[in-house]
Amino acid sequence: MITIIGSGRVGTSAANYMMLKELDDILLIDIIEGRPQGEALDLGHAGAILGLSVRVKGSNDYKDMEGSDLVIVTAGFPRKPGMTREELLAKNAGIIKEVAKNIKRYAPDSIVILTTNPVDAMTYVMYKELGWDRSRVIGFSGVLDAGRLAYYASLKLGISPASIVPIVLGMHGQKMYPVPRLSTVGGAPLTTLLSEDDIREIVKETVESGARITELRGYSSNFGPGAGLALMAEAVKKGYNKVFIASVVLDGEYGFRDIVGEVPIILGAGGMKKVIELPLNEEEKRGLEESLKSVRAMIDSLKEQGLA
Ligand code: APR
Repeated sequence: MITIIGSGRVGTSAANYMMLKELDDILLIDIIEGRPQGEALDLGHAGAILGLSVRVKGSNDYKDMEGSDLVIVTAGFPRKPGMTREELLAKNAGIIKEVAKNIKRYAPDSIVILTTNPVDAMTYVMYKELGWDRSRVIGFSGVLDAGRLAYYASLKLGISPASIVPIVLGMHGQKMYPVPRLSTVGGAPLTTLLSEDDIREIVKETVESGARITELRGYSSNFGPGAGLALMAEAVKKGYNKVFIASVVLDGEYGFRDIVGEVPIILGAGGMKKVIELPLNEEEKRGLEESLKSVRAMIDSLKEQGLA
């Protein structure tokens, strides 16, 4: 059974795509009474219409996740007007710590993938609180950032985004570090196919498109995250050993330790198999370092507040 904790927009979109793939039965959990049950009913009806065989249930009780082998965490809050980043950091860290205690109690053998923002810092909190091997605690959003890079590059090139292998490293957020030289089309780097201006534009769109979605429609993205989460869940459930960009605890890779950042990983049964180390040039190494400074600042702040 796949458990999704947080039955808001991202959680239910993920459930929708996972259901379409018939990966496994799904349990939706939320603190708001009625929300997960209502969402599960609606999704269940959709499944019946589509002739799918998986079941979707909703609950407000963590106990129902007992025995779950994959847990997706989308529980958390966006920043409210007047709230500082530090306050949001502390608030969502509190939620992650509570969620982690329940995962540890009811799904001790599971793989955990989380989306709660700021995702790199929250992955660190989850990892510390669970005390598990880093291979089983994975932060989502690299797939989203990379997907956006492929999307904008595909528009410029007039080819399918499926033919682009996009690379984005570092933190998830404004300080992410897209790497056009290592993003390829049929083996050719984007930097050999597009002008510097085009590349600059693609990078800008990639970094800013999340905020643009929120600005345009009033709330942050859910279809992109939902789709990416379903692909990652599929790789774990089916043991595909597929490559994704994801946020993991670094243990010497790229010269970093005791920090979380987006890097390419191999994902399969049991979680992360390996971090792939790319041959970065000096400029790219500096870019990654600069990007991860923001994550380090958040982790330091959490440590100062006794939250990590
Ligand atoms: N346990 C379970 N669910 C919780 C908890 C908790 N302790 N705390 C909050 N929730 C639930 C909320 O009740 C809400 O239904 O998490 C859900 C979050 O849903 P939305 O507000 O719709 O947010 P969403 O857009 O889904 O984003 C969730 O993922 O991408 C990130 O930045 C995003 O941190 C945010 C998270």
